[in-house]
Order: sequence, then structure tokens, then C-alpha cells
Amino acid sequence: MTPDKSPLLKAAPWWRLSTGRTLVVRGGRPLIGTYPISGAKNAVLPLMVSALLTPHLVTLRNVPATLDVAVLAALLQKLGCEMHWSATGAGLSVTLSADRVQPGRIDPELVTRMRASVLLLGALLARCGEARLPMPGGDAIGLRGIDFHVTGLRAMGATVELAGGVIEATAHGGLRGADILLPLPSVGATENLLLAAVSAKGTTRIRNAAREPEIADLAACLISMGARIDGVGSHVLTIEGGLPLAGAIHAVLPDRIELGTLACAAAITDGELSLPHARVELLGVAAPLLDAAGVELRDVDGGVVARRASSGLAGIDLVTGPYPGFATDLQSPAMALLATASGVSTVSETIFEQRFRHVDELRKMGADIAVHGRTARIRGVARLRGGNVTCTDVRAAAALVIAGLGATGKTTLDGLDHLDRGYDRMTEKLAACGADIVRF
Ligand code: UD1
Repeated sequence: MTPDKSPLLKAAPWWRLSTGRTLVVRGGRPLIGTYPISGAKNAVLPLMVSALLTPHLVTLRNVPATLDVAVLAALLQKLGCEMHWSATGAGLSVTLSADRVQPGRIDPELVTRMRASVLLLGALLARCGEARLPMPGGDAIGLRGIDFHVTGLRAMGATVELAGGVIEATAHGGLRGADILLPLPSVGATENLLLAAVSAKGTTRIRNAAREPEIADLAACLISMGARIDGVGSHVLTIEGGLPLAGAIHAVLPDRIELGTLACAAAITDGELSLPHARVELLGVAAPLLDAAGVELRDVDGGVVARRASSGLAGIDLVTGPYPGFATDLQSPAMALLATASGVSTVSETIFEQRFRHVDELRKMGADIAVHGRTARIRGVARLRGGNVTCTDVRAAAALVIAGLGATGKTTLDGLDHLDRGYDRMTEKLAACGADIVRF
């Protein structure tokens, strides 16, 4: 479905009007050059939502120019948040001003485009004492319930009703601190409850909190607004809520998923990429695992250099897991790489139930992959071959670009909204590193 770009352009004027619907990659060229790593998609979304908590100005730097950012900007603008964008050498900057928030002005169509819009629940409850939004959308990669979010907000005194696909939440007497144990370290639930807790009266403890670097980035911004949060980076976050929140100026964390994705692209093409702003340590166990697969990653001054090891690509066994485990968002890009690694690899997905939808597309390109339940078994082939493939989710899209770059012949991709949701100007950045890639 082609998104209606008009509300997006109004809120995020940098969003391109005439983006091509088809991407053509002619593979076999080594990627050599500099590919700047943008701010993290998964960090910027909760950071933008945090601006709803304060009437003061929140400035975010290093904002990635992605479709999800444009969609969230349009949602926030409807809610009454003003935004001023500027383009700098270091990416986009935005100053958000949520002087007056009108929680009733939610755009249901925009909410259903993106899972992260569920974060509006915690922030609107905290700021306005009410929120009403349809069930959020996002990638079709699993059940992705919001029960942890709802249970946590109820523990903080909110009334939350779910009926007819709409979430209705109120906390007119204000939220209060609570002791919350998450059944799983959910990234979104941790962020939502953190956003709510900084405005709730009293102490909130979030146990079994997710530890993804994007959560630490959100906490850092909230702390610079005046929030008191202990245990950042650990499984227990303790928040002394109810303090007045000022504005903040915050630079968004570099995108570790873009880093891992481009490292795979450098390795599959036998090229060498310099990835400014990236840091290897953000990859957690993905760094040693990629290394074992023949993806050399080296921290250098101001970034990372990635290339294929001289010993070539080798099969590995990987299991996705919460941070610092192997990121589920790198599972499909890694699978594209392993499709041409020597020997047999296994990839087990433990976070989402339906995150193998790229497998059928990779098979069209000659990959030898068998799926049994949540594990894929990959027998490396010498080369993938070009084909006509469809992007089924954000990370599948990146996997197919990697496969196309490493394949012989021409690969044609459609379903590019998925790519645009998560990757900042990928086509242009790849072309600057020697890829034969066009979009029309
Ligand atoms: C975030 C990321 C996404 C990443 C994922 C896991 C953003 C915008 N998205 O998604 O890119 O793939 O973390 O690292 O940051 N669950 C429930 N009930 C809930 C909440 C979650 O059952 O209330 C389940 C989900 O169905 C899933 C698992 O918990 O199986 C983990 O999901 P979660 O960490 O919440 O992922 P998201 O925050 O949606």
C-alpha cells in the first residue's frame, strides 16, 4: 500500500515526495568506501515521544531520515507538538515543543502503521491523564501483544480498556509508582513504563527490564530532563517519579542494527566499509559471532571498519536473544550472509514467531535453507543469483538488499516501504560505496 505522504510532508518536510517503488541491484561489486551510520531508528522513536512529557523544548540531533520518524512526527504534530527541523552535516536535528498536548487528536491510520506508536500510551497518560488509540501496527512478525504494557500501566493506577481494537486508558488522578515485574524483558514495555514512571508520583521499580542500548539512550535523555533513574543498563530500573521535567538537548545513539547490516554487506561483497559513528561494543554477542562467520569488525577513531576476513565466510550457529544476545533485528541480514558461507549454519529465532518470512525470498535467489520450527538450517552456496523478491518487513528488506549485492546478476525488490521505515537513505549511501543500485 502506498502511504499517503501529505501529513508526513507537513510534519517532516525532508521526507521525499517521489520515492521510487522498485529497487534494482546488480550484484558482484565490492562495497568500498564510507557509509555513515545514522542515529538508531529504535532509539529515536521513544526519544521523540519523550518530548510529550514536558512543555519545554527537546532537541534531538543525529535523527535518521526514515519513514517511521516521519510517521511519528505526523502523529506528534496532530497531538499539538510543534517541530522545527534542520539538516546539519551530522544528520537531521529536530526541536520538539509540546507546550499544549491534545490527547484526543490521535490519527488512527498513522498509529496502525507502526508498532512504536504504543509508546504514546505511557506518555499521554503521564502528561494528560488519558489516551485513546487503536491497536498499533508494525511488522507482521509475530503476535506482539501489548499485555505487559497494559498490566504495568494498570499497576501504576491507570484504567485501561481494550475493546473493538481500541485501547482506552485514563489516569485522571495521576499515575503512581509501582513495583512491576515484566514476564519477558520487552523493549517496548520497558520504554512505555519508563516514560510513564518519570511522571508518576513515588517510586517505580521495573524488574526484568530490557537492557537494549536504546533504553539507556532514552534514560539518558530523561535524566538530562531532570528525571531520577537508577540501574540504567541493568535488569532493574528504579525511577523516582513526579519531578518537574525540563527540556533537553540529546544526540541519538548510533544505529547498531545498521552497523551490523552494513558489516554483512561489506563481507558478502568482499569489500571494505568505513562506518563512521558506529561502535562495535553496541553489537553485544553479535560482534564475536559475526567475527566467527568471517566478518571482521575493527573499532577505529570515530567509527568502525568492516570487511571480509581473509579466511573467507564460514557457517555459524546463532540464537537470537534479548540484549546483549544476538539481536533479532540482525537475524535476517545475517542469514543472507550465511547463505554464501562455507558449511552449514543454524539460525534460531527466539523473540518473534514469524521472523523467517525472508527465507522464501532468499530461496528464490538460490539459497539452500530448510526451516524446522524456529530454527533455520542453511547450507552455504558459492553464490546467490539475482531474482525478483518482495520485502516483507524492515529487516527482511535489509537482508534482501545484502543478498542482491552479493548475488550474480540483477535483483529487483519491491515492498520498499519496509526498507524506508528503518534505513536512512540506504540506496544513496550504498551507491556512494560503489554499489550498482537504482530506485525508480
Ligand atoms: C523492539 C524493536 C524491534 C526489535 C524488538 C526486539 C522498536 C521500535 N522495535 O520491538 O525492532 O525487534 O524490540 O528486540 O524498538 N511481548 C508480549 N507482550 C507485550 C510486549 C511484548 O508478549 O506486552 C512479546 C512480543 O510479542 C515479542 C517479545 O515479547 O515476542 C519481545 O517484544 P518487544 O521486546 O516488546 O519488542 P518491541 O518493543 O515490539
